[in-house]
Amino acid sequence: MLLEGKVAIVTGAGSPQGIGYGVARRFAREGARVALLDRSPRPSQEIERELGPNAMTVVADVRDEAACAAAIAQVMERWGRLDVLVNNAGAVQARRTRDISRDDYDLVMDVNLRGTLLMSQQALAHVGPGGSIVCIASIAAQRGGGLMGGPHYAASKGGVLALVKSMAREFGPAGIRVNAVNPGVILTGMTAGAYEGERGASVISTIPLARLGTPDDVAGACLFLASDLAGYITGASVDVNGGMHMH
Ligand SMILES: NC(=O)c1ccc[n+]([C@@H]2O[C@H](COP(=O)([O-])OP(=O)(O)OC[C@H]3O[C@@H](n4cnc5c(N)ncnc54)[C@H](O)[C@@H]3O)[C@@H](O)[C@H]2O)c1
Repeated sequence: MLLEGKVAIVTGAGSPQGIGYGVARRFAREGARVALLDRSPRPSQEIERELGPNAMTVVADVRDEAACAAAIAQVMERWGRLDVLVNNAGAVQARRTRDISRDDYDLVMDVNLRGTLLMSQQALAHVGPGGSIVCIASIAAQRGGGLMGGPHYAASKGGVLALVKSMAREFGPAGIRVNAVNPGVILTGMTAGAYEGERGASVISTIPLARLGTPDDVAGACLFLASDLAGYITGASVDVNGGMHMH
């Protein structure tokens, strides 16, 4: 088992169809004790029934520094250590440049970029050598949006990629690795309904692997980056897009 003995937090893991839950489930199967953090988490009994006693739920809004600190304190209190953080919580909006309001900008930037920074800051107070942070960015940062997210979404994810490289540089000497995953089009609650029928078929026709992605596809890349298999990989990003964007 690739994460035996490790404690992980996955943010944005409250949606049963989402990437975060897929990552948490995969981590639990690989022996990790895993905390599923969300602004609106599912009942802990339900999660324990599905993932076993080595899973817990934590309520926090990643935009709120005190809530992030309290969430991490809760995990430390229960399991006494923290090895892996997956920054997955995210907000998407389809907008054109001139339609982005101040509130739109604040919401998307705050959840995607500030939330990633705040959770990382708090986690880095506890993660030691061998620890790993994985941040979910997006194909939108690489190709300039154009799928679901507007320019502010793409920019927030571009910020995440820059933050990943900067944190990787800063924390490498402490033995802590920081990497990103860039999902392409993944079928989740966020994208539900947007890729049905003709729209789905036309997107699939641009994907060499000829299908949309699943949360499990993203979870596999997160597992690799979180585990010791990726012990010499930091500041990198792994594309999980079926070949839709190559560079
Ligand atoms: N689905 C895709 O095609 C796709 C593609 C590229 C990147 N992504 C990224 O992957 C991540 C997960 O996306 P998903 O499709 O599973 O989305 P989702 O909407 O299914 O899940 C997102 C989760 O984040 C939680 N969340 C939102 N704001 C929060 C906050 N302020 N604090 C705590 N939790 C919060 C939500 O409650 C939800 O459970 C996001 O960062 C998204 O930008 C998704």
